[in-house]
Amino acid sequence: MDFYEIEGGTPLVGEVSINGAKNAALPLMAASLLSSEPSVLHRVPDIEDVHTMADLLRSLGARVEWQGKGSLMIQAGPGLSPRLPDELTRKMRASVLLMGPLLARLGEVELSHPGGCAIGPRPINLHLDGLRYLGAQVTAEAGALRATTTGLQGTLIVLDFPSVGATENLMLAATAAKGVTIVRNAAREPEIVELQDFLNKMGARIRGAGTDTIRVRGVRELHGAEHRVIPDRIEAATFLVAGAVTRGRVTVADVIPEHLEAVLAKLEAAGCTVEEGNDLVEVSLQGRPAPIAFRALPYPGFPTDAQPQMCVLCALADGVSLVHENVFAQRFHHLEELMRMGANVFHEGGYAVITGVSKLTGATVEAADLRGGAALVLAGLAAEGITRVERAYHMDRGYESFAEKMQSLGAQLKRLSN
Ligand code: UD1
Repeated sequence: MDFYEIEGGTPLVGEVSINGAKNAALPLMAASLLSSEPSVLHRVPDIEDVHTMADLLRSLGARVEWQGKGSLMIQAGPGLSPRLPDELTRKMRASVLLMGPLLARLGEVELSHPGGCAIGPRPINLHLDGLRYLGAQVTAEAGALRATTTGLQGTLIVLDFPSVGATENLMLAATAAKGVTIVRNAAREPEIVELQDFLNKMGARIRGAGTDTIRVRGVRELHGAEHRVIPDRIEAATFLVAGAVTRGRVTVADVIPEHLEAVLAKLEAAGCTVEEGNDLVEVSLQGRPAPIAFRALPYPGFPTDAQPQMCVLCALADGVSLVHENVFAQRFHHLEELMRMGANVFHEGGYAVITGVSKLTGATVEAADLRGGAALVLAGLAAEGITRVERAYHMDRGYESFAEKMQSLGAQLKRLSN
């Protein structure tokens, strides 16, 4: 199994270009199933989760072809299957996003329950209840989910929590429902706006994405569309925090700075200098970071997907930081591993108290999930001595050319095999 070997202590300096967003590309790929015509997505990141989604679409009978770097053609012609294969479905939780489009297109969908994951339980009750409100019959028996309908009907759906995936699934299903669907307490992430933009290009009639109320007027048919995926704000945040924890100066290019506001505000609070351009952000830090308090929340709050990375900055701060994880209360595995490197951490429930230390020390640590693993790499880059981050494959799910990009900033990091 591959691992990263990191020699810490070199400040990262330079500029990296940011890829298309994983969490935007996956729902757009799912949306392509809504039409029998080809759609083309540009700036699709070359990452494992995209490959898994492509394999899932192929297994259903769609044509999925790369057309040069970053461009993906998807055509879901006639004869599409409503049954998702077990192994691929379990590999990636975002496979649940295929429920909405398959139900809309075929009137049925069957998949195994995607289950929990390393960041804690991840129920899909909001997805299933929402589909029921739209008129689908949904059963969950012996680990298998099945939804059927003879015609979805527009309705009012009030989400208990602004779930990103549930909002997306319901938008996807509602494009084919009769009449108007209103989703209240909808997620407001940029990836939701992105999905609205793409679906409207396909002929859907959706408005309100980016606010807490989304309105979808069902249409009879959608056609193919072409779209360029927005930049990955989490990849950008990861590289910016890497610059800060190594007391370097990192510029991320091809980003939308507005999407990074919550992260940049906390980096500034930690003493970083932040400079913004049109599509650039530069972060630098001299000396130890100041302690901060932050809370992971739905957008426009601080993103849970950048919480682990930010914890590394807190671990090195000159004082006590407070972290409240309000989206996935159990998302703290990385803290256990950071303690092996000398971090001083107490966590309980969704809270962590991190008392900064003047240095972390290299150790062998294990990535348990995508962003937690990235945080451990950042800790290794800032630590004294050699760090080995096991299970490098977690990072492949969401970072394209992770090692190469880090190396281009001066990181002493190698990907090796056992
Ligand atoms: C998406 C992102 C993930 C990010 C998360 C939160 C994708 C592919 N993944 O995941 O990277 O960390 O948003 O920003 O876009 N919940 C329920 N019932 C449900 C659905 C969710 O209780 O039916 C809860 C979850 O347990 C969690 C919270 O709602 O506590 C947020 O989850 P959600 O926004 O749905 O995350 P995902 O869409 O799975």
